[in-house]
Amino acid sequence: MEAKKKIEVDQLKIIEKDLKRFLMSYKFGIKEVMTKINILEEEFQYIHDYNPIEHVKSRIKSPESIIKKLNRKGLDISMPVIKDNIRDISGIRIICTFVSDIHTISEMLQNRKDLILIECKDYIKDPKPNGYQSLHLIFQVPIYMSDRVEDVYVEVQIRTIGMDFWASLEHKIFYKYNKDVPQKLRDELKEAADTIAQLDRKMEILDKKITTIKNFNNSEKKHKGQ
Ligand code: GTP
Ligand code: MG
Repeated sequence: MEAKKKIEVDQLKIIEKDLKRFLMSYKFGIKEVMTKINILEEEFQYIHDYNPIEHVKSRIKSPESIIKKLNRKGLDISMPVIKDNIRDISGIRIICTFVSDIHTISEMLQNRKDLILIECKDYIKDPKPNGYQSLHLIFQVPIYMSDRVEDVYVEVQIRTIGMDFWASLEHKIFYKYNKDVPQKLRDELKEAADTIAQLDRKMEILDKKITTIKNFNNSEKKHKGQ
């Protein structure tokens, strides 16, 4: 009996160690993609004297959420199944000022040879019926470990400040009402999403106008030799 217990404890320790190592590769996945984003951001700022990124957030999906998602999808709880089917364990969210910045960042990431684009969902071109807008990219990135190369999926969500504001409020309401949001509130949320999209467009037009005036003034100054 004692010997059996010892084996069970040893097995558990092995599983725990494997699981920690397994999740470690997702932490490295985030680090790898974060570094690539930082390089693009810094270089872009240097060349264009403009930063298309407001801020970046990241998170690792909790084991509880992973298990919940497996159950929802009717999948077994095993590391190979998780590796193949749960593609948002590593999650990065990039917040931009304007919609055009979203496309700039998305293109720069997709042009990198060290990131393989697996999936792209454009909820900006086609917003979800509830009004949700964001660009979702799933990349595969190789992680060089001490004894092997592990390919991990990293989900990158890119959205404007306004869209992010909306999504966090909608998320809060969704859980407050236990996913059963009253129709009136749904309608109001949809309206708010449309207003945000309109405001995003307006701000971008204003920004373009300001840039044109600034460029014109600068060239006038140069012309006059000031
Ligand atoms: P998940 O099973 O939730 O990962 O959905 P999916 O695999 O169909 O992917 P999708 O790209 O549609 O959504 C992925 C993630 O985007 C979610 O986990 C949320 O973080 C976010 N998201 C998607 N739809 C909504 C929404 O309607 N509201 C909010 N607040 N967030 C959303
Ligand atoms: Mg997902």
